[in-house]
Amino acid sequence: MTSLEENNKASITDDSESHTPKRSQVPLQRYLEQDHPNTLEILSFSESKTASCYLDTTAVRVSDAIYGASGVSDVNFLSLEYLLNFKKSSIDLGPMYGASTYASFSARAALSLVDKKEKHLNNQCQVLALPPPQKIEKSFDSLIRERRSHSEMSGEPLTLGQLSTLLFYGDGVTGDKTFIDPVQDESWPSMSLGEPDPYYVRSAPSGGALYPIDLYLLVSNVDQLENGLYRYRPNSHSLINVRPLSDDDWDAHKKDAATWGDNIHAEKFNITIFYVYSLFKNSRKYGDLGLAFGFIEIGMIAQNIHLAAQALGLASNCIGGGSKVMRERFLNIDGQSQHCLHQMIIGQPG
Ligand SMILES: Cc1cc2nc3c(=O)[nH]c(=O)nc-3n(C[C@H](O)[C@H](O)[C@H](O)COP(=O)(O)O)c2cc1C
Repeated sequence: MTSLEENNKASITDDSESHTPKRSQVPLQRYLEQDHPNTLEILSFSESKTASCYLDTTAVRVSDAIYGASGVSDVNFLSLEYLLNFKKSSIDLGPMYGASTYASFSARAALSLVDKKEKHLNNQCQVLALPPPQKIEKSFDSLIRERRSHSEMSGEPLTLGQLSTLLFYGDGVTGDKTFIDPVQDESWPSMSLGEPDPYYVRSAPSGGALYPIDLYLLVSNVDQLENGLYRYRPNSHSLINVRPLSDDDWDAHKKDAATWGDNIHAEKFNITIFYVYSLFKNSRKYGDLGLAFGFIEIGMIAQNIHLAAQALGLASNCIGGGSKVMRERFLNIDGQSQHCLHQMIIGQPG
């Protein structure tokens, strides 16, 4: 052992006779060399309040400055406002009454609309049936333990079967329920135009089975699929072709992707999944809770897709950066009733 190592070895004071707890003593030199810089960094991160008296009037309000000035400024995080109004007390009866108006027939009407809207859209657009998904046999334990986010991707093509499997496990239909039980339900109609529709339920849970999240896919380099923008239709396990990828689309996508992280290059991944929340699909029932449900449901779908990607040996990563407004323009959604709240990239590992 060198004299420096000897010097830096923490010594334990022997206080056994006085029955005081044992303490380890860090030599001053080791503290100054190794621990002091870290301590300073932790202290300055926790304590520095980068409060600016100009925060209220400046255009650039970085999160750190808003956080720092929270005691002296009127400028707050929008999320704080949302949280303060989110289920604010037990007398906030709005969500409860809102949900209760969905009892009986209106709930059935809302649920039947999910399928009817999909069928209507399918009739209007070019629909591509996906091949049956592959059955994932890998153990749940290993998938959970081994899942990691990866940005390093090779750009090698994906198969259509892999895409189908990702979408099925992510947000595909895994069962159905009927709206009414003819024996138990008093509202069973005595006359009907046909058998009651079932409603379809999916791999990821959804508040009230209203499924406010749509998956849009930017596909580049997937076998048997033209590069383009698609929309997943879970009930028919198919894709709607929104539009082929133009040169302008590809340029816009490349520029956006360049802001997502150092290792992230549009040429290297094959699928970008955009999670689009339709405000009125669930907020008519849940009020402002609807937005929280939208975020929660995105998380559930995204984790399903991560685990499916892991099982298929693919790399996947969530992407928090980029401009929401630009992306909504790219997707051709209005940014008012429909919002792109999240995205994810998937490719062959690099
Ligand atoms: C909402 C969300 C946004 C994320 N955004 C990015 C991102 O923009 N770029 C990136 O490289 N990783 C991103 N990640 C991945 C995280 O860095 C990653 O999950 C974290 O380091 C933990 O690693 P693990 O996922 O491998 O367990 C994001 C993850 C989540 C959940």
